[in-house]
Amino acid sequence: MPTTELSALSEPQVAASTTALRLAGVHKIYPGSPEVRAVDGIDLEVAPGEMFGLLGPNGAGKTTTVGMCTTRILPTQGRIEVAGLDVVAEPARVKRRIGVVTQANTLDRSLTLHENLALHCRYFGWSARRSRARADELLERFRLTERADAFPMQISGGMAQRLQVARAIAHEPDVLFLDEPTAGLDPQSRLALWELVGELRRDGLTVVLTTHYMEEADQLCDRVAIIDHGRVLVCDTPERLKAEHGASMVVDLHLSAQADDALLDRLLAVTGVTDADRIASGVRVLARDTEGLLARVVSVADHAGLSDLSVTGASLEAVFIALTGRDLRE
Ligand SMILES: Nc1ncnc2c1ncn2[C@@H]1O[C@H](COP(=O)(O)OP(=O)(O)OP(=O)(O)O)[C@@H](O)[C@H]1O
Ligand SMILES: [Mg+2]
Repeated sequence: MPTTELSALSEPQVAASTTALRLAGVHKIYPGSPEVRAVDGIDLEVAPGEMFGLLGPNGAGKTTTVGMCTTRILPTQGRIEVAGLDVVAEPARVKRRIGVVTQANTLDRSLTLHENLALHCRYFGWSARRSRARADELLERFRLTERADAFPMQISGGMAQRLQVARAIAHEPDVLFLDEPTAGLDPQSRLALWELVGELRRDGLTVVLTTHYMEEADQLCDRVAIIDHGRVLVCDTPERLKAEHGASMVVDLHLSAQADDALLDRLLAVTGVTDADRIASGVRVLARDTEGLLARVVSVADHAGLSDLSVTGASLEAVFIALTGRDLRE
């Protein structure tokens, strides 16, 4: 009998756990001078079957958080449970329940695509025959069958990423962690990957992903936690976050000349405008989305050489800007 089945028999019933992932008071402090508070007190709960997004700018602590949830990084403080299992006390059992795709390509370059998948199953104690069958099935599902005998160096970035996801779920985990899975992919590959992840999710897999693409999180996730400086700023459904914080819209006014203080004052005096700040191309206006707002802002800016404008309506991007005063990409 394959060892997985044996160990499954001896596993105590943890499936009854009502959360797929729970973080309580989690901190990660990297020593040094100054020390880095990469994760500075995070509490989160992810329900089984949920698609959950950790959204935040570079350095927010996303990878460190995922690293701790996936047993790769030891928390300095706090407790993390996957399906009721403590990640620090029981890393081996946790590893059987999770799949991980990290920011780096970790495929084995000396193995074919098929071998990469089959070996992963073998590593988790599956028989050679069952592992081969699973590899076939996954190659089919992830539309890689034609390249089964190719090596990772011979396939596109999009294919490599699909293979990494296929490998991460090969041993049938409960929770899949994806750290910036679409970074560096072209739009088409990105879409293809999301379709596949969407299918997995419909099969009941819990998915935790990190991204700094706001639209991606908005479209894909049931709930998102926006994190910054190692802390959760807000955590809710995209719809509720936008309704609560994103009523603020962001209007970037591109001006032909440098914005002077008088212009900022005139913009701030416009009904509905809550903030106006200089940006490289002109002025960024934060405002409540009220009737006629754009027309009022434009009429003020017109006198200052308005050459173009961009509007970010109720979006997670606007939520982040409203909460932090910064762009995600800054
Ligand atoms: N091993 C380490 N030693 C010291 N500091 C670290 C280490 N790993 C990460 N950090 C720091 O911790 C903070 C959080 O980093 P982390 O990689 O978790 O952020 P992130 O949100 O994943 O960012 P990105 O979007 O760039 O992937 C950053 O300031 C980073 O420089
Ligand atoms: Mg990261």
